[in-house]
Amino acid sequence: MTTTKEMAGAGVRLSPRPLIELGVSFWSAKALLTAVEIGLFTELARGPATELELRDRMNLHERSAGDFLDALVALDVLDRSDGRYRNSPAADAYLDESKETYLGGWMRQASRHLFGAWGGLTESLRTGKPHIGWDSADYFQRLYEDQEERRRFIAAMDAMTNHLALELAEGLDWSGRTDFVDVGGARGNLSAYLARAHPHLRGTVVDLPELGDLFAEHMRTMGTEDRIAFVTADFFADELPEADVLIFGHILHDWDDDQRRELIARAYPAVRPGGCVIIYDRMIDDDRREKAVSLLGCLNLLLVTPGGSEYTVARCRSYAADAGFSRTTTLPLFDGLETAVIGWKEG
Ligand SMILES: C[S@@+](CC[C@H](N)C(=O)[O-])C[C@H]1O[C@@H](n2cnc3c(N)ncnc32)[C@H](O)[C@@H]1O
Repeated sequence: MTTTKEMAGAGVRLSPRPLIELGVSFWSAKALLTAVEIGLFTELARGPATELELRDRMNLHERSAGDFLDALVALDVLDRSDGRYRNSPAADAYLDESKETYLGGWMRQASRHLFGAWGGLTESLRTGKPHIGWDSADYFQRLYEDQEERRRFIAAMDAMTNHLALELAEGLDWSGRTDFVDVGGARGNLSAYLARAHPHLRGTVVDLPELGDLFAEHMRTMGTEDRIAFVTADFFADELPEADVLIFGHILHDWDDDQRRELIARAYPAVRPGGCVIIYDRMIDDDRREKAVSLLGCLNLLLVTPGGSEYTVARCRSYAADAGFSRTTTLPLFDGLETAVIGWKEG
């Protein structure tokens, strides 16, 4: 075994610090998720506050409140000056619940569910099966049984689609298109933002019957009830409605490779000539070494789905090509965190 002394003698000055910090990086994640969970950033968006005020308002014990707040300063999500804490610009933009740009819905879901599931990683790596409680093929139906859980899950999806919809609205030329279908479009959040950005567009959301009521309620809130329709369907069994554009957002990664290919093959006949299919997910770089968040995302999907996984951009292009789409283009989303592959059908 190489000793520390031998390493020093050989002139090797290899710092162990990055490994040590990586080994406890879940501390950072959990501190952030807890701050979101208790609404700290929403509170601080109303105005800066002292530790004493935050202890009182957030119901924090004196033992570690200061450590918790200062750790968040060190993590660059809070600032501290003159004994008062305030949100960093990014935390203020994305973690204040009163703003439309809020991403915390998704983080709350991560904190409630995913954090626990990751405790089962060793076992899942050995068995190839999800963590206990996540091993059901009818995962969505089970999730939706509980009304509150259903709402929370959908809010988590919306946290992402608020942003993605605006990027898709700008990233594609919609002028020659009349309609789109959002397959697995949840309560229609992406569709509503897209329709609001391009008033000539009409949309259809395809999803499970459990989301019909939430869809109707959300369309009234968004003022898009006369432009977006809801179709109850099982996207593996039922014919998909026809449109110029079919969208599969955060759908393919929930399923295995054969099922992903099948879904895009099922989309092809529904896309009108000259139209396209848009597939977005947190896709992996083709060399499978750069996007740690996507590769770790595969492990996350191992833990919570029977067969899901992130997949490379090249793999996604092959789903589109095999289905019959004549060419593909890509669009980076969310500052490169996600990728949209667009498969074009011959006109
Ligand atoms: C991960 S969410 C994606 C929501 C949204 N498209 C987005 O971009 O975040 C998956 C969606 O697929 C729906 N879904 C799951 N299985 C389905 C099926 N067999 N047929 C239709 N919709 C389904 C779920 O209800 C849920 O709304």
